[in-house]
Amino acid sequence: KAHRSAVSAEAYGDWNKKEDFHPRVIPKSQEQKERISERLSKAFMFSSLDEHEKEIVINAMDERIIGRGETVIRQGDDGAELFVVDSGTLQCFKVINGQNKYLKDYGPGEAFGELALLYNAPRAATITASTDSVLWSLDRECFNHIVKGSAVRKRERYDQFLSKVKLLESMDPYERSQLSDAFINVAFNEGDYVIREGQEGNEFYIIEEGTAIATKTIHPGHAPEEVLRYSAGDYFGELALIKNEPRAANVIASSRLKCVMLDRHSFKRLLGPVEDILKRNARNYEDIVAKKR
Ligand code: CMP
Repeated sequence: KAHRSAVSAEAYGDWNKKEDFHPRVIPKSQEQKERISERLSKAFMFSSLDEHEKEIVINAMDERIIGRGETVIRQGDDGAELFVVDSGTLQCFKVINGQNKYLKDYGPGEAFGELALLYNAPRAATITASTDSVLWSLDRECFNHIVKGSAVRKRERYDQFLSKVKLLESMDPYERSQLSDAFINVAFNEGDYVIREGQEGNEFYIIEEGTAIATKTIHPGHAPEEVLRYSAGDYFGELALIKNEPRAANVIASSRLKCVMLDRHSFKRLLGPVEDILKRNARNYEDIVAKKR
């Protein structure tokens, strides 16, 4: 809570300085507003906005109807807006070393075109509709005043940390930096349970600072036994999300502990590229337990 109000106070601070910022208001039906709100809730870039900021953004959004085959963003152009997909599918291509490379698809609830606005850079890739699509576009002015500050700070804050997390080594730097947008900070005192064996779980954690241990019931009727130790850069909580099973162990802070957390939706969307590594690493758990039996 404290964090959120601090962010919005700063956003308003910037905007008060520029007294000439009057966010554009494009008339919309209630149904359209709810639709945009639903889409925004899935776009990580907007996840730390408060309700008032979200309302400003929703009012400023403009509907764009795009035909199949139409190019929305062209690599190298200047950029003036960011887009959120309402419906349809678009493809992202980037010329790398003279070769035009397909990077990814965009679908409903995903945002693109943020880089040029975040870093005042030319468009870094080309985005073309592969079906008829409906987009919501947000103008640079509104983006700069409401979204940019906190997004840039979050990315700067986590960039170095993320480059040191072994699990994420193989990830594309662009996709890795998107994790920052979705991170939620959580802190624990020594002895706190972050995760309890047997409970339902919807969160994934990476340790920023401090240590934790995992304990697990190996001999039924006896106390759980220590199975792993964690320190900065280590992760836990992935198994319940991958397997859709209850938590397989306790995780207990063994010092003051600071973590970044992803919810199930962000985990699935952003850590897809390392799912195989997560599954491979998870086989070690079985070996550790087998040795203790
Ligand atoms: P922008 O540079 O404004 O316009 C092109 C968009 O493509 C860019 O913002 C991102 O939203 C998106 N994109 C997707 N993947 C990449 C990538 N690997 N590198 C750069 N941009 C990417």
